[in-house]
Amino acid sequence: MTTYAVTGASGHLGRLVVESLLARGVAAADIVAIARTTSKAQDLADRGVELRFGDYDDAASLDAALAGVDRLVLVSASEVGRRVAQHEAVIGAAERAGVSRIVYTSLLGAATTSNPLAPEHVATERALADSPIPATVLRNSWYLENYTGQIGTYTATGTVLGATGGATIAAAARADYAEAAAVAALQDAEGQTYELGGTRFTLEDLAAAVASTTGAEVTASDVTVDQLAATFQEVGMDAGTAGFWASIDGSIAKGELDTASTALEDLIGRPATSLADAVAAAV
Ligand SMILES: NC(=O)c1ccc[n+]([C@@H]2O[C@H](COP(=O)([O-])OP(=O)(O)OC[C@H]3O[C@@H](n4cnc5c(N)ncnc54)[C@H](OP(=O)(O)O)[C@@H]3O)[C@@H](O)[C@H]2O)c1
Repeated sequence: MTTYAVTGASGHLGRLVVESLLARGVAAADIVAIARTTSKAQDLADRGVELRFGDYDDAASLDAALAGVDRLVLVSASEVGRRVAQHEAVIGAAERAGVSRIVYTSLLGAATTSNPLAPEHVATERALADSPIPATVLRNSWYLENYTGQIGTYTATGTVLGATGGATIAAAARADYAEAAAVAALQDAEGQTYELGGTRFTLEDLAAAVASTTGAEVTASDVTVDQLAATFQEVGMDAGTAGFWASIDGSIAKGELDTASTALEDLIGRPATSLADAVAAAV
């Protein structure tokens, strides 16, 4: 019997990884859902999944959470700037617990991209390489939900605002990446790094998909990174935060969230979610 654990199980992606393991035939009793806010994952416990408390900032809780676990899906943490120490805490606890494999959710092109989110992923990939535990690294591109979650804003303003310079983005639904993480945990290949991206589109394509699905008039407006940062500041972000998030579009403009890799579809054995389907589902 192999015991699988998933961190961040109270979050969007982690819960979907648990769902994918269940859908692929893993018994609920063989899955450990690790959550900081366990109340948000109680429904998984109700279905027979073992729910354990685990806080990345509390090493003792991680030791207890990982007891008896064979394969761990480490969903990257969410507090930018604190994640390297948090991920290292999980890896250390996994070593003490005798975990035999870690699957980690990284960022597309982590080693070479100028995306400001990358350095924490690179440091985590290095920590995994230094660990005796074999790791599978899933370098995920953007979630489609990063965009479909803003459809209300797009239709209210008539604009998909960005600074991507018309570049193509290869994004996939969280459910696609979650399924890939489950497959990676289930398969016996070790030491692999996968570049994962899905449907390829521009912000113009996104605006057209939103317009045709909602009937609203929506067009893409491409501005400079500085103009985008200024807009973020107008809605209340401090200058540093606004610059950080706007610079991600600068990275996208260089094609750094685009990939022709078919690894995602190869892993999950089906096409990744299309832009049209993602927009329709969100609407
Ligand atoms: N590729 C992309 O487009 C993209 C976009 C957004 C995020 N991400 C990355 O992908 C990850 C998963 O995305 P998501 O949509 O599932 O995010 P999410 O819904 O915000 O979930 C984040 C999860 O991390 C948990 N967490 C945060 N701090 C923790 C701590 N100190 N100890 C234990 N757990 C902690 C949260 O627990 P609580 O429920 O207790 O808060 C939650 O379960 C994110 O954390 C981020 O690294 C990628």
